[in-house]
Amino acid sequence: MDKPKVVLGVSGGIAAYKACELLRRLTESGHDVRVVPTGSALHFVGAATWSALSGNPVSTEVWDDVHEVPHVRIGQGADLVVVAPATADTLAKAAHGLADDLLTNTLLTARCPVVFAPAMHTEMWEHPATQENVATLRRRGAVVIEPAVGRLTGVDTGKGRLPDPAEIFEVCRRVLARGVTEPDLRGRHVVVSAGGTREPLDPVRFLGNRSSGKQGYALARTAAARGARVTLVAANTGLPDPAGVDVVPVGTAVQLREAVVKAAADADAVVMAAAVADFRPAVYAAGKIKKKDGQEPEPIVLVRNPDILAEISADRARPGQVVVGFAAETDDVLANGRTKLARKGCDLLVVNEVGERKTFGAEENEAVVLGADGSETPVPHGPKEALADTVWDLVAERLR
Ligand code: CTP
Repeated sequence: MDKPKVVLGVSGGIAAYKACELLRRLTESGHDVRVVPTGSALHFVGAATWSALSGNPVSTEVWDDVHEVPHVRIGQGADLVVVAPATADTLAKAAHGLADDLLTNTLLTARCPVVFAPAMHTEMWEHPATQENVATLRRRGAVVIEPAVGRLTGVDTGKGRLPDPAEIFEVCRRVLARGVTEPDLRGRHVVVSAGGTREPLDPVRFLGNRSSGKQGYALARTAAARGARVTLVAANTGLPDPAGVDVVPVGTAVQLREAVVKAAADADAVVMAAAVADFRPAVYAAGKIKKKDGQEPEPIVLVRNPDILAEISADRARPGQVVVGFAAETDDVLANGRTKLARKGCDLLVVNEVGERKTFGAEENEAVVLGADGSETPVPHGPKEALADTVWDLVAERLR
């Protein structure tokens, strides 16, 4: 089988060096990558590096190898074009259809999915010109990854950093796997909760659970690759931020509720993949709880936590909002799932069987998605991304 053909466009920003890692991940995972830098990109990383890492010739201009008509052929033959970093200038040229070098020509001739990973100073990102260009590119079907927040060139910090190349690679993988040029969640805001809450007993101890957060992160990542604006409310996960996703870290169930309710106010869909503690200790000991010689330990008194899924299902922040829950069951999986779906009042419930060695922390998952309309969608054993895509298929159907 032919290797999937990827064009890696690199424009002139300091983050160009990070594209080397993206290139390495793409080639090592079996993609045939043609790097097309802009002239300015070569100020940051030279052509020899791109050529050596990709194993392909590198050119910035349409005037090299003219007999091969590269300004048309490279774009026509691509299965994916990813521009990382995409500068304000490259976004502007792409939005306006300018074609004054090999990369911009390639963008005009490509009919495959296109991903832009912008990186620039915050002021340039926030400028209405850039924002309108981004909106234009998204409207036409490109996936434009939101920049990350953090350290920029020099002493500045703010929004505009290129996300982690490993996470841009994940977006590319998801977009390539779907192969569609019309991202079906574009213009949508989705909220995903992930991980497991921790309910503190004292400054060093908590009641927690075994959720790794991987399924929630897979949901966030796949939604971003399908064009959605994503808020990920993450409870104690320690996982790297998915590219283009707004991550809100939380600790307890009460904090998770606050963050989810706030983000849900303008959301089209809310997916509660987090394992939320049903109870928390009634009292929090300000100092470490000590054992006392010859005395039995004090019992821990628990109080109920809010049921977030039931609450957002009952009070939809906007009409047509789709609410999805997860059910972790050990016995009578489907029957318990149906009862839980009715009790929680959500639209979809992803039911999976859990146990010591099942689901928690694993890379793969298997589930049945139950619909309030009586539907039942089995998802065979496979990567957590595959289950995530099935959930978004069902959500997208309900949003239409
Ligand atoms: N959930 C929630 N708030 C809680 C508990 C759970 O929003 N206080 C959500 C979870 O995020 C998940 C769903 O409810 O989407 C089901 O969680 P699960 O633990 O399986 O259900 P419980 O309501 O806790 O029911 P039980 O423990 O009786 O099985």
